[in-house]
Amino acid sequence: MEEKDFAAHLTATMTGSALTMLLGVGHRTGLLAAAARGPATSAGLAERAGLEERYVREWLGAMVTGGIFTYDGREYTFPPEHAKFLLGETASNLMPSLLTLSAFTGILPELERAFAEGGGVPRSAYGPYLETLGAKTGDSWKHIYREHLVDGFFGAVPGLRDRLTAGARVLDLGCGTGNAIAVAARAFPASRFTGLDINAGVIEQAREHRLPNAEFAVGDAAELTADPPYDLITAFDAVHDQDRPDVVLRRIHGALAPDGLFFMVDTNFSSHLEKNVGNPLAALTYSISLMYCTTTSLAEGGAALGAVWGTEKASEMLADAGFRHVEVLESPRPQNCIYACRP
Ligand SMILES: C[S@@+](CC[C@H](N)C(=O)[O-])C[C@H]1O[C@@H](n2cnc3c(N)ncnc32)[C@H](O)[C@@H]1O
Repeated sequence: MEEKDFAAHLTATMTGSALTMLLGVGHRTGLLAAAARGPATSAGLAERAGLEERYVREWLGAMVTGGIFTYDGREYTFPPEHAKFLLGETASNLMPSLLTLSAFTGILPELERAFAEGGGVPRSAYGPYLETLGAKTGDSWKHIYREHLVDGFFGAVPGLRDRLTAGARVLDLGCGTGNAIAVAARAFPASRFTGLDINAGVIEQAREHRLPNAEFAVGDAAELTADPPYDLITAFDAVHDQDRPDVVLRRIHGALAPDGLFFMVDTNFSSHLEKNVGNPLAALTYSISLMYCTTTSLAEGGAALGAVWGTEKASEMLADAGFRHVEVLESPRPQNCIYACRP
């Protein structure tokens, strides 16, 4: 990249960061929701949202020049084709991820201390930032499951939906607030689902789904046992953050029926940095990995695989855990792939 192009690249990077902060402001003040109700002047929008016009006008300046809103010289418009990525109960809404990102600023002093002294930032340190900003991790995936779990994810493995329809014993490992099971248990009433997570707080929330064919338990995946074994074990975005991923993968292998399937959804990158250059999602994922996955694992003395552990490393670890057939399949989301693993 030429010098002047690099300066422009850095300016764009700063702009993205500033707009991320201001979009969070728009979410928390209700400005985005108010603007989605239709075109308005700055005074009209301020009145609609119950806010101070001078602040709203400056914020709108950033939204227009930042390519989020349009402006005709009098009224500001939040186009519906943009609003769907920042508002609403759909998988297209990127606001939960955006809020998670700005929440990380709260832990940076601790992260910098860990750079110098070693160790990491414990998961408990994130609670106040993630929760007060309304960016609980489960929110990002809730809509993805609703829209893509049955057809997009499960549909990628031939025969899986038929097996679930007939009735299978299923474990969702690192189930979080139970959003995947909530969708699957309703879609496949003949199957029985168990959700396992080490965090008692999320299991309490998962139990609120009140599903007749699902139960939720607090437990450590590194101590998983099953009698009788499971027909299907799923793990959605829950393996690379494990403190002892090698142990967990071996436990999963041991808890599956001989004709069972381990269905692991994880990030879709290479284990080799040079192969990730040019991937538009890579820098963001390395950054999130540093600010959450890697440091929370190091805080526990864990393996710190990071979110970009990559398909090569994952395939190697699955083989070491005993899986003899591993297929890496495309998922409905470019940032994830599916590992269909058979004992
Ligand atoms: C990124 S979240 C994904 C949650 C969920 N699958 C979803 O899609 O919303 C990873 C989850 O793994 C859980 N987890 C981490 N280590 C675990 C362990 N050793 N045993 C069980 N769960 C664990 C965390 O508590 C967290 O809820």
